[in-house]
Amino acid sequence: MHTVEPIQWTPAGVVILDQLKLPSEVVHHTYTDYRDVAKAIKTMIIRGAPAIGVAAAMGIALGVQHSEAKTLEDLRAEFPIICETLAHTRPTAVDLFWAIARFKRRFDELAPAASRNGAAGLDGIRTAMVQEALLVHEERRAGDRCIGKFGAALMPKSGRVMTQCNAGALATAGIGTALGVIRVAIEEGHQIEVLVPETRPYLQGSRLTAWELHEDGIPLTLITDNMVGHFLRTGGVGAVVVGADRIAANGDTANKIGTYGIAVLAKENDIPFYVAAPISTIDLSLPTGDQIPIEERSPAEVTHAAGIRTAPDVRAAHIAFDVTPHRYITAIITENGIAHAPFAPALKDLVQR
Ligand code: MRU
Repeated sequence: MHTVEPIQWTPAGVVILDQLKLPSEVVHHTYTDYRDVAKAIKTMIIRGAPAIGVAAAMGIALGVQHSEAKTLEDLRAEFPIICETLAHTRPTAVDLFWAIARFKRRFDELAPAASRNGAAGLDGIRTAMVQEALLVHEERRAGDRCIGKFGAALMPKSGRVMTQCNAGALATAGIGTALGVIRVAIEEGHQIEVLVPETRPYLQGSRLTAWELHEDGIPLTLITDNMVGHFLRTGGVGAVVVGADRIAANGDTANKIGTYGIAVLAKENDIPFYVAAPISTIDLSLPTGDQIPIEERSPAEVTHAAGIRTAPDVRAAHIAFDVTPHRYITAIITENGIAHAPFAPALKDLVQR
C-alpha cells in the first residue's frame, strides 16, 4: 500500500507537502532555511505531532548544514538559536520538544571530538546532524509499522472504526498511528470502513484523512462533527482509534479538539476507545493532563471557512486540543507494546523498554 510522503530530506533541501492546500492542490515546497521550516510548522503547512517532530529534526539539520559558522565555537553559539526558533512554533505536540532535546544531546556528544579536529570536525557535525534527522525519519516509519501491528489485533474483523482529525501518513511521515492501525488491520484482512469526522475548524478530517484514505482506496464515510454521537449510538462502530499530541504520565491524553467528547460518547455506548502514539508522544514529566499546554489559535479560523466569513464579527474561541482523561481510554498503543490501566506503571514500563 503506497502512502503519501509529507516530508522528505533531499539534496535540494527539505521538501514539505503543503497540507493547507489539500485536497484541492498537491503542492510541495523546498526549504533550505531552518526558519522557513519553523514557519511551515507554525502555519500548519506540516502538522500532526510525529511529523512535527520529524520536521523539527530536519529543520535543525538544515540549520547546522547551512550555518555560516567557521569554527565550532561559532556553531555552538548558533545552535541554541536554531533550536529555540523551532521550539517557538506549536506548544502542545511534545514530539517537537522530544526531537529538539535529542539533537541537543547529540550535539553535546559530538562537540568534544569535533573541537579537536578543526574544520574536519565542523564538517563531521554537519554530516552527523543530517544523519540523525534521517534516523528520526526512519525510526518513525518503523515505529508506525509496529504500532499498526500491535493495534490491528484490537480492531474489529469487520464493521466501522471511527477516528478523529488526521493521525495518518500526513501526520507522522510513516503509515500513520491511528490510520496505521487501520491500514495494517486491512492488510491483514479486516473489512473496515472508517468513519471520519470532519474536525472543525481546520478540517483535518475532511481535507486530510478523507483524502489520504481515498488515495489508498480505503472505504470511508465522512461525517460532520455533530454526527459523532448519532453514529456511536446507532452506527455499528466497533472501535474508535485516535492519535495523540501529548500523553501525561497517568495516561491523560491531549489530542485534537473534539476527541474528549468522542471518548465520553464511546464509553457511554460500550465502544472501545484506543489511543495510538509513538513513545516520543509520552511525557512522563507531566503527572496529569492538567499540566499539558493547550494551543489556542486565531479566532479567525472559527469565524471564517476557506477565507469566507461564516459568522458575524463576534468573539470566538479556537482551542486546538482537548484532554481526554485516562478513564475513558481502553488502551494506549505504542511501538513498544500496548498499555492498559493502570496507565502510570504501564507507560513507564513501555518508555523504558
Ligand atoms: O493541529 P494538528 O493538525 O497538528 O493536530 C493533529 C492531531 O491532533 C493529531 O491527532 C495528533 O497530532 C496525532 S498525529 C499522529
